[in-house]
Amino acid sequence: MDRLRIKGGRPLVGSVKVSGAKNAALPMLAATLLADGEHELGNVPDLADIRTMLRLLGRIGAYGERGQGRARRRVLVEVSTDINPVADYDLVKTMRASVLVLGPLLARHGKARVSLPGGCAIGARPIDLHLRGLAALGADIRLAHGYVEATARRLRGGRFTFDTVTVTGTENVLMAAVLARGTSVLENCAREPEVTELARTLVAMGAGIEGIGSDTLTVKGVGKDELAPMKHSIGPDRIEAGTLAVAAAITGGDVELTECAPHLLDSLVDKLRETGARVTTTNGSMKIRGPVRPTPVDIRTSPYPGFPTDMQAQLMALCSIADGSSVIREKVFENRFMHVSELGRMGADVRVDGHTAHVKGVPSLSGAPVMATDLRASASLVLAGLRAEGSTYVQRIYHLDRGYERLERKLRSLGADIRRLRR
Ligand code: UD1
Repeated sequence: MDRLRIKGGRPLVGSVKVSGAKNAALPMLAATLLADGEHELGNVPDLADIRTMLRLLGRIGAYGERGQGRARRRVLVEVSTDINPVADYDLVKTMRASVLVLGPLLARHGKARVSLPGGCAIGARPIDLHLRGLAALGADIRLAHGYVEATARRLRGGRFTFDTVTVTGTENVLMAAVLARGTSVLENCAREPEVTELARTLVAMGAGIEGIGSDTLTVKGVGKDELAPMKHSIGPDRIEAGTLAVAAAITGGDVELTECAPHLLDSLVDKLRETGARVTTTNGSMKIRGPVRPTPVDIRTSPYPGFPTDMQAQLMALCSIADGSSVIREKVFENRFMHVSELGRMGADVRVDGHTAHVKGVPSLSGAPVMATDLRASASLVLAGLRAEGSTYVQRIYHLDRGYERLERKLRSLGADIRRLRR
C-alpha cells in the first residue's frame, strides 16, 4: 500500500490548476444511462472513483473510455438498449455513489437491481430517501438478499418531499423523474452546485426541469426518444479548490488557484478570511495568502450554501494551529470526526463532545506516522503534515486517491516536500 511522506514547514507558493469535480462527474456518468447513443464528457478527473463508475457502467453494458494524451480528460460513453441493469455488491461497497445508477436504469429500462451500500466510515448513510422518492414516482421497491430490486413499467409523475437534504438522493430521483409520465414536484432538494450542474445538463439533453438552483424542482417528464446524448464539460471541483486553499493558509503561503469557481466557495472564503488569510477572487481564479498564525473560527457544517461537510476535516487541521480555541459542529454526518485522533497524534488538542469538536490551537504540530480513514480525513492529515515539524507518513492513501487527482504532484509544484512511497 502506498504512503505519503511529507516534510513540513515549507510555505506553499505558486499557481495551480483545479481539476474537474468528482461529485459532478459521478452523477453525470450515471445519467448517460438515460439516453442511447454516444455521450461526451470533458474535464473528467482521473480518479479511482471515476474508474469505479466506468467499470460499473461497463458491466451494465454502457462502455466508457477515457482519451489518451491531450484528450485524457475526455470520456466517451456508448449506451445501447442492450443492457444488464445490475450494480453488484463488490462495486457498490467500494463506492456508495454507485447507487446513482438506480434512478436512470429504472426510468429508462423499467427495472434495476442495485446492491444496498451498507455502512461506511462516516456513519450509517442510508438510502431510504432515494427509495421513497422513487416509490413516489410509482416504482415497486423490494429489498431482498442485500439488494434493492426496483421495477416500474413506466414511472409516473408524483410529489415528493425529502425529509433530509440529500445530494445523491436528489440526483437519483431527479434523473428518474426526467423520463416519468407527467409532472413531478420534488421538494427540499439539495442545492449543491453538482445537483445544479446535473439538472442543467439534463435540460440540455432534452429534459424539462424548472426551479434549477432552488430547493423545489419541477420536472415535466419526456419520452425516451426525446432525450439526446449529453455533451458536457465538468465544472471545477470546489472541494479540491478548498483543500488547496487551506494548504496555502496553513503553511502561511501565497497561492493562486486557476480554473476554479470561487463563487461556489463563499462560505469557505468567509471562514478563511476570518482566520486572517487574505483571499482575493476573480471569475475563475482565487489567490490565498496565509496568516502567520490563524485566528480561531467557529464552524457549523450544513447543506449548500452552508459550510460544506467535505471541508470540515481540512478546516480542523487549520484551526489546530490557531491562536485560540475554535468550535466545529458537524451537522450533516453522524460520525465524521475520525481524523481527530490522528491529528491528536501530531500534537493537536481536540476534544469531541457528540457532534461538536472543541479545538484548542497549539503553536506547532509535530510530524508522525498517521492513518487515513476516509477521503477528507486523509486530506486533513496531509494539510497538518505540511505545517508540522519533521516528517509525517500518511498511510492508507487509497482513500485520498479516490477523490484527489495527483494531490502530491500539485502540492509539490507549489514547493511542498511530499513524496509517494510505493510498496
Ligand atoms: C454527497 C457527496 C459527499 C458529501 C455529501 C454531503 C457525492 C458523490 N457525495 O454524498 O461528498 O459529503 O453529499 O454534502 O456527491 N441521508 C438519509 N437518507 C438517505 C440519504 C441520505 O438519511 O436516503 C442522510 C445521510 O445519512 C446524511 C445526510 O442525509 O446524514 C446527507 O447525506 P447525502 O447528502 O445523501 O450524502 P451523499 O449524497 O451520499
